[in-house]
Amino acid sequence: MEVKTSLLDNMIGVGDMVLLEPLSEDSFLGNLKKRFDHSEIYTYIGSVVISMNPYRSLPIYTPEKVEEYRNRNFYELSPHIYALADEAYRSLRDQDKDQCILITGESGAGKTEASKLVMSYVAAVCGKGHEVNKVKEQLLQSNPVLEAFGNAKTVRNDNSSRFGKYMDIEFDFKGDPLGGVISNYLLEKSRVVKQPRGERNFHVFYQLLSGASDDTLRKLKLDRDFSKYNYLSLDSAVVSGLDDAANFRTVRNAMQIVGFMEDEVQSVLELVAAVLKLGNIEFKPESRCNGTDESRVKDKNDLKEMCELLGMEQSVLERAFSYRTVEAKMEKVSTTLNVAQAYYARDALAKNLYSRLFSWLVTRINESIQAQTKARHKVMGVLDIYGFEIFENGDNSFEQFIINYCNEKLQQIFIELTLREEQEEYVREGIEWTNIEYFNNAIICDLIENNQNGILAMLDEECLRPGTVTDETFLDKLNTICADHQHFESRLNKNSKFLNDHSLPHNCFRIQHYAGKVLYRVEGFVDKNNDLLYRDLSQAMYKANHSLIKQLFPEGNPAKVNLKRPPTAGFQFRASVGTLMRNLQTKNPNYIRCIKPNDKKASHIFTDSLVRHQVRYLGLMENVRVRRAGYAFRQPYEPCLERYKMLCKRTWPHWKGPAREGVEVLMADLQIPAEEISYGRSKIFIRNPRTLFFLEEKRKQCLQDLATLIQKIYRGWKCRTHFLLMKKSQIVVAAWYRRYAQQKTYRNIKSATTVVQSYTRGWQARKLLRELKYQKRCEEAVTTIAAFWHGTQARLELRRLKQEARNKHAVTVIWAYWQGTKARRELRRLKEEARRKHAVALIWAYWQGLKVRREYRKFFRANAGKKIYDFTIQRIIQKYFLGLKSSMPSMSPIDRKWPARPYGFLDGVHTELRKIFHHWRCKKYRDQFTEEKKAVYEEKLEASEIFKDKKALYPSSVSQPFKGDYLEISKNPKYQKLNSAVDEKVLLADVVNKINRANGKGTPRIFLLTKKNFVLADQKTGQVKASIPLPDVTSMSVSTQKDGFFALKLKEGSASAVKGDFLLSSEHLIEIITKLHRIGATAADREKLKVDISDEFLVQFKQDKVCVKFIQSSPKNGNSVSCKRKNNRLLEVSVPTSP
Ligand SMILES: Nc1ncnc2c1ncn2[C@@H]1O[C@H](COP(=O)(O)OP(=O)(O)OP(=O)(O)O)[C@@H](O)[C@H]1O
Ligand SMILES: [Mg+2]
Repeated sequence: MEVKTSLLDNMIGVGDMVLLEPLSEDSFLGNLKKRFDHSEIYTYIGSVVISMNPYRSLPIYTPEKVEEYRNRNFYELSPHIYALADEAYRSLRDQDKDQCILITGESGAGKTEASKLVMSYVAAVCGKGHEVNKVKEQLLQSNPVLEAFGNAKTVRNDNSSRFGKYMDIEFDFKGDPLGGVISNYLLEKSRVVKQPRGERNFHVFYQLLSGASDDTLRKLKLDRDFSKYNYLSLDSAVVSGLDDAANFRTVRNAMQIVGFMEDEVQSVLELVAAVLKLGNIEFKPESRCNGTDESRVKDKNDLKEMCELLGMEQSVLERAFSYRTVEAKMEKVSTTLNVAQAYYARDALAKNLYSRLFSWLVTRINESIQAQTKARHKVMGVLDIYGFEIFENGDNSFEQFIINYCNEKLQQIFIELTLREEQEEYVREGIEWTNIEYFNNAIICDLIENNQNGILAMLDEECLRPGTVTDETFLDKLNTICADHQHFESRLNKNSKFLNDHSLPHNCFRIQHYAGKVLYRVEGFVDKNNDLLYRDLSQAMYKANHSLIKQLFPEGNPAKVNLKRPPTAGFQFRASVGTLMRNLQTKNPNYIRCIKPNDKKASHIFTDSLVRHQVRYLGLMENVRVRRAGYAFRQPYEPCLERYKMLCKRTWPHWKGPAREGVEVLMADLQIPAEEISYGRSKIFIRNPRTLFFLEEKRKQCLQDLATLIQKIYRGWKCRTHFLLMKKSQIVVAAWYRRYAQQKTYRNIKSATTVVQSYTRGWQARKLLRELKYQKRCEEAVTTIAAFWHGTQARLELRRLKQEARNKHAVTVIWAYWQGTKARRELRRLKEEARRKHAVALIWAYWQGLKVRREYRKFFRANAGKKIYDFTIQRIIQKYFLGLKSSMPSMSPIDRKWPARPYGFLDGVHTELRKIFHHWRCKKYRDQFTEEKKAVYEEKLEASEIFKDKKALYPSSVSQPFKGDYLEISKNPKYQKLNSAVDEKVLLADVVNKINRANGKGTPRIFLLTKKNFVLADQKTGQVKASIPLPDVTSMSVSTQKDGFFALKLKEGSASAVKGDFLLSSEHLIEIITKLHRIGATAADREKLKVDISDEFLVQFKQDKVCVKFIQSSPKNGNSVSCKRKNNRLLEVSVPTSP
């Protein structure tokens, strides 16, 4: 088993206390001292690192050292904090386990330094790249900022952390940092206003005054002289080895890197300056007339400057220092503050202002360093909390109580996770084990934090209780409640043990912490726990015209006045410590136990008693014992087999059986000695880390081989794939190229062929053209010759014909002239003769007239004119009648001709004569009628009365004569039986359609009408189906349209009406209805039958009344009338409209 053994090589003392022989407290201290003297400040107890503060810088944190420890196993090299950091980082990265690094030790033991070393190591070994480096830089640079504001020089430590800090660094799956989250715990804010002798206020005040430029100080209205500020203690204002001015520049630079804006930095500095100014405000008493004391601000210059800095109204702040308003429910009571109260208010404001500024800084840093991605991440938490603290002269107050409580809790978690859990695990797993005794400090934790009777609960109860509450009443309470607790000591305890203990003053109580007894002075406990800031002050602050101040005092917003008491400082701290502990328990712990070698902050001094005390209370001896008796490494069987199965052929690649057997086979195969391993119920325990390193080494080698194998196969696969791809590509390229070449050749041949072809075709075409042209010329020549020949012939003929025509024309013209001359002569003669005859007649008429006038002149006296007129009229009328007689129209009554009237004055006579003549010829026409014809015409007349302009069918029926017996029933032997069944004369016999009441379909029936009844009979057989006496028919209904539908409605209650009314259709509808109407009209015993003409009428079918509705349909749907039963109540008849 070849393992690098640097841990053991050249070892000073023993690097791992587990190997210490013999193990005793002295040998333990001796080993620590020996190593410390040789500058070996780190020693292991198994995986726990003990770190001794060297109080000088050692050359063991160089980049070379980082490289040396990088990726090396924990025990491979000499003990170092880097080994622990590397182990934690690799477990986080490779095994996906969240880590936490718990650094404990008393104040000045080197916790903060250790935490920075861990962070810088992780930053050095994790991934690189622009973004990653920025994150790393921001994470690291958050330290100087927080240290400036949260650290101070104390008697124990020149850079003592006065707040607790837990920082979660977040990594991605590759182990690159993504960001971080810082949690802070209770800043010791009392330090702002008062520092113990030999201690300083927080660094930032001194840094600002020493390091800021004159210009900055002028803007902040500050003076470089520390002595000008009441809040700065002067006795240790300058600390040797601490360059405040340089540190100020570092802090400003760090703020910039972390991402603070310039105006944010300015606001922060303004607040720091304001705190300094606040400390300088002094008050003087002033008596009021009512005898009460009041305070007034002494010198208002500082107040003014502070108000200017924060953009506040001076009067507002001044009033807040002089009055206190108490609000209860609806009431507000203002009381004046005396000088002491005013100072109290001032200090409370300063403390609050500073501590809130500090919390804001943490939040602001968190905003900058928070991880930008939401991806799942792994976390490494680094806890650097204020160390256990005891002031020798009993000056321990609330802050020390809180700090020590926190350390108790950390010790508890250490005990839980290393001592108790480890031992319990051995028992649980059935490993042979002898129990090791250790002190469990759970009982002390319980004394402080128990919800019912713990000291913190008592304090809260006292703070919230009505009535007078003082620190003394609180102590009284403790004395009664905690009297019997073995770790609580008090002079006034019921327990008489301490009555005479003069080391225990009356105003104190003592707790036996795991790290020693601590005497707490109760003074200020109640006040500090209450942590009250008068509402007037917070409201005054909220009014400031300063964005940061406004943010820090949200409760001062008058719109959000909350009368509830804020939770006490103790309560808040207990809650946040509880959260922290729960958080730590979910992570894999790594311990750094810091030990302070001396109280003088000096290098090379190893104070035996001091170290012994720390070794004792830290329980380091117990730790070694448990470790020595136990096993260095344990792991459940499944992950163990999974991790190492490649080391054995039988377990690789798959083990079929139970995991434990697999592990056993594996270990046997690797020839691990039996004493090195124990098999628990669910885990394997490996005693020596070397065995584990051996396994890891083997695994690493095997992984390399496997990687080579995978690489080989992958490369082979990749080359093959590449080759196949190339081959495929080559075929494709070749195919494309061949295609291209063939296409090119083809195109060449094709174009050559086309050229040759075109030449040949051209030659052939030209040859053909030549032949055709020759042929055409020949044809044209022949045609021309023929044309010339025909032309010559035609011209000769034309010339002959023209000659002939000229000759004929000459004859005709001569003849015509001759005829013309003859005709004109004759005309002249006839005209002469007519003129002569006319003249003779005229002369004769004149002569006659003359004669008549001479003869009748004697009669022409008074009434000659009238007579002539009457004669003339008579003559005219005579002529009119004679003319009329000769032009009389025909005797047809429908002849509309009549001669035109000759004279206007005969207009009346002419019309009258026309009428007389028409009546006369009608009379003549009627006289010719026989009785039968007359009856027929009467019927026609009646039909016109009933139907004219009412039914569209009527006009077409006018020209059809009413035949009556269409079936010639008496002659037809087929209907003989039927004829005999009817005893009356048949007036009408026809085939009609009887409309089926159920579906609207028609059935042919013979319809016989006599004077008394009508009969419906089967068309084929002549069998009588129904015989209805006409008196039972009440009315008839027909539509307005061209259809032949008619309903015969029967008298209700009559025997015929049992089956209901008849709906029939006939081509001779007009005749049937007219005949029925006539019979009704002539019968004396009954009323006339009514004929309803409407497109909607009701028909009684058995019990139901059905509406028969006629609608017009387009002729497209067929030219015949159709009838359909639509529903129970509607029968629809669609009649095509005539085109
Ligand atoms: N590894 C180290 N190398 C050199 N000097 C160290 C080392 N560790 C601590 N110191 C010195 O000890 C001083 C105190 O250490 P540090 O501030 O870490 O103590 P702490 O345990 O954090 O105390 P507190 O609880 O008061 O904050 C440091 O200022 C430094 O001078
Ligand atoms: Mg510290």
